[in-house]
Amino acid sequence: MKRPIASILGTGRFLPSKVLTNADLEKSIDTTDEWIYSRTGIRQRRIAGPKELPSDMAASAAKLALAKAGIAVGELDAIITATLTPDYPFPATACVVQHKLGATKAFTFDLQAACSGFIYGLAVAEGLIASGAARYVLVVGSEKLSTITDWEDRNTCVLFGDGAGAAVLGPASDRGRLMSVYLGADGSMVPKLLQPAGGSAVPATAESVAKRMHFLKMDGKEVFKFAVRIMGEASAEAVRRAGWESKDIALFIPHQANLRIIEAAAKFMGLPMERVFINLDQYGNTSAASVAIALDEAQEQGRLKSGDKTVMVAFGAGLTWASCAIQW
Ligand code: ACO
Repeated sequence: MKRPIASILGTGRFLPSKVLTNADLEKSIDTTDEWIYSRTGIRQRRIAGPKELPSDMAASAAKLALAKAGIAVGELDAIITATLTPDYPFPATACVVQHKLGATKAFTFDLQAACSGFIYGLAVAEGLIASGAARYVLVVGSEKLSTITDWEDRNTCVLFGDGAGAAVLGPASDRGRLMSVYLGADGSMVPKLLQPAGGSAVPATAESVAKRMHFLKMDGKEVFKFAVRIMGEASAEAVRRAGWESKDIALFIPHQANLRIIEAAAKFMGLPMERVFINLDQYGNTSAASVAIALDEAQEQGRLKSGDKTVMVAFGAGLTWASCAIQW
């Protein structure tokens, strides 16, 4: 496939207004702000209200992305929603988003690659545009992780937050050009990070609920080791596929999971932290929304100028990974 084929024409984000700080968590579990911040880089996260669904957050982020792209909702050919916390097990949250937006022309589906989902979505959107199946595609990562977080498990509950980030893609233009994509997965790592019950493997029963099996379970140390390796390697591969060198990267936008993982990836790439975008302290890990929110904030803060070379990278449950190179 000869690139560029597709461009990001506009981005948007939505963060729920409720803030949950580390000090708040100190009141409910045996933890401290010092432990959380020094081990993760997180100070606070946003929590969606009972009536704020992933589809609502997605639609809010999408409206902003469409406005910035200058694309009318009726022009959307496809909606891809990346989420591991859908409104319903089925049908796709993307269908709910389509209805809430009134994007009646768009075909819709969900994409499940956990925290790598937004970049997987960009790759699929590019393919749809390349094949002629779609001209304008909305990719939105939206997560309400607070609903699958075990608020009694201090090993995991300090890490996650809710939110959504969106991008509208269209045929390659003079900005936001997707120059390379690299996707991967290692299914042998499924047991290291998953929600054990609620699917066909362990259908919901009173017993599965009593055993707290509908919450996210994670082997933090194993995931950490994997992430430290793959975030650097995947970033380098996106750079290589774009025909660039690491030193050309004006802004590195990594998945916001843990500051120590981000620092290791930046070191692997030989990039100073001034060229790395961080908002993890504010929002925690918002999974599929993470890099999408970061990309939108980076632009708003003037951290991306026309022509700048940027790399986004993520890893997530599966375990999956994804990276891409974008020229602004
Ligand atoms: N407060 C205080 N102490 C804690 C807390 C907490 N919130 N959590 C764990 N501890 C304790 C542990 O119980 C342990 O105590 P012990 O030695 O007495 O058993 C001690 O702190 C050290 O725990 P470790 O697991 O060694 O801490 P580590 O430095 O590995 O950090 C962490 C843990 C932050 C979870 C890290 O392993 C990590 O970031 N892993 C990757 C997680 C991640 O990014 N996941 C991505 C998910 S993405 C998706 O797809 C949903």
